[in-house]
Order: sequence, then C-alpha cells, then structure tokens
Amino acid sequence: MGINTVLDVQNIEKHYGKPPNELSVLNKLSLKVKRGEKIAIMGASGSGKTTLLNLLGGLDDPDYGSISVCEKNWSKLSISERATWRNQHVGFVYQFHHLLEEFSALENVALPLLIAGQSMISAKETSGKFLTSIGLEGRLGHRPSQLSGGERQRVAVIRGLINKPSVLLLDEPTGNLDSDSAKKTLDLILQLSKTLSMAIVLVTHDTFVAKNMDVTYRLMDGSLEEK
Ligand SMILES: Nc1ncnc2c1ncn2[C@@H]1O[C@H](COP(=O)(O)OP(=O)(O)OP(=O)(O)O)[C@@H](O)[C@H]1O
Ligand SMILES: [Mg+2]
Repeated sequence: MGINTVLDVQNIEKHYGKPPNELSVLNKLSLKVKRGEKIAIMGASGSGKTTLLNLLGGLDDPDYGSISVCEKNWSKLSISERATWRNQHVGFVYQFHHLLEEFSALENVALPLLIAGQSMISAKETSGKFLTSIGLEGRLGHRPSQLSGGERQRVAVIRGLINKPSVLLLDEPTGNLDSDSAKKTLDLILQLSKTLSMAIVLVTHDTFVAKNMDVTYRLMDGSLEEK
C-alpha cells in the first residue's frame, strides 16, 4: 500500500560549465521507478551515470525538469527538509565506497541511524546485527583501511540500506571486486532489497549484475534507452 512510484524523473537536463565550453550531460531524460523495482543503468564512462544518481538523490539539481522521490519534488524542499527526506527515503552506495576512515565499520553503518534520531545503543545494536548477518561479525571494530575491498563494499551497502530507504542508489557497487566478492555483494543487495521491498537503481558495467535487475537501461546521448 502507500506510494507506488518511488522515483519520478520528468524531462531533466543537466549541463556543466558555461558556453562556449558548456557540456550537456543529460538531455530530456525521464524515468519512473516503482516500489521494489530494480533498475540497472549501463553506459560508457563519462556518459553521465554518476551525475544522474546525484540528481536522483537530491545532492545536485537539474537545470530543467523535475525529480520527485516518494512524491516530493527535491526543488520544493529547503536544505534541511532535503536532508531529512534523503535520510528517510534514499540510500547511497557511492562509486568509491566513501566510508569514513576515522570510524569503525560498526560506526560507519550506525551513522544514518544516529542521524535519524536513534540512540547510540540501539543504532549500534541494529548495525551489529546487519554486519553479523553478512559474515562481518569479526570486523565490527575495524577501520575501512583494515578491511579488504570486498568487505568495505559490503559495509558500504549495509550503510546504504540500514535506514530501509524507499530507493537505494548504487554506483558500481561491484566495480573493483573479484568475481567472488562481486557475487557476494550482489547477493546481499538482492536479498535485502527483497526483504525490505526497496527499489534499486544500480549503475554497472557488468552485464551479469544488470541481468539480475528487472530492467536495464543504457545512458546514451543524455537519455535512457531500455535494453
Ligand atoms: N562537477 C563537474 N563539472 C564539470 N564537468 C563534470 C562535473 N562532473 C562530471 N562532469 C563531466 O560530466 C560527464 C559525466 O560525468 P559522470 O561522472 O556523470 O560520468 P559517469 O557516466 O559516471 O562515468 P564513469 O563510468 O567513468 O564513472 C563527464 O564528461 C565529466 O567529465
Ligand atoms: Mg561514475
């Protein structure tokens, strides 16, 4: 029940720079993602995939067009309203994991819960359970630099979905992993997205990963084409 379209993108455009050096990255791009739907986005390096994810999550604004997450248009929200809406509805897994170096795996995962207002004890308890469920119980106190690439990426995935967001945005979550770690990370994403009925927008160069989503789009010449 409730809201059925978690992501509604209408005719957006995004340019960088100013004429005559203006670079048009996204051009009249539209996209709808339903609750629980899993979307893969492929496309050449520099085609605008990360740019698109940043816009979807309200980290940046399109020059034209509108983007709504769970029926709220980012452009109608103040900075603090955006932060709250993002914390409640959007999870991010960045292209380069972006874990905070000075915090442990457990603390990195607990952060979104603390921001959402949970107590330290309950945030750490929930985070510990999630990390344990993916075999990282022996790594809770490790800093990111003390984790392997695959472990870091799984911690980043858990941090992205710990708040049970309506939509999880993932930028190359398996990009730098060997095939075994990539498979583990993919399984984790699929399993938890199902349990939490989260929508997924996943950028990847890997056709195997894309095939595990419901729909695959290619980003080309600034807009999306279904494959
Ligand atoms: N802040 C910025 N200012 C100016 N140009 C930018 C900026 N961010 C990205 N670009 C340019 O916009 C284009 C799209 O970049 P983007 O990072 O979205 O590509 P991508 O599809 O994610 O590529 P990759 O697969 O290599 O990660 C690139 O040509 C890039 O150089
Ligand atoms: Mg990118």
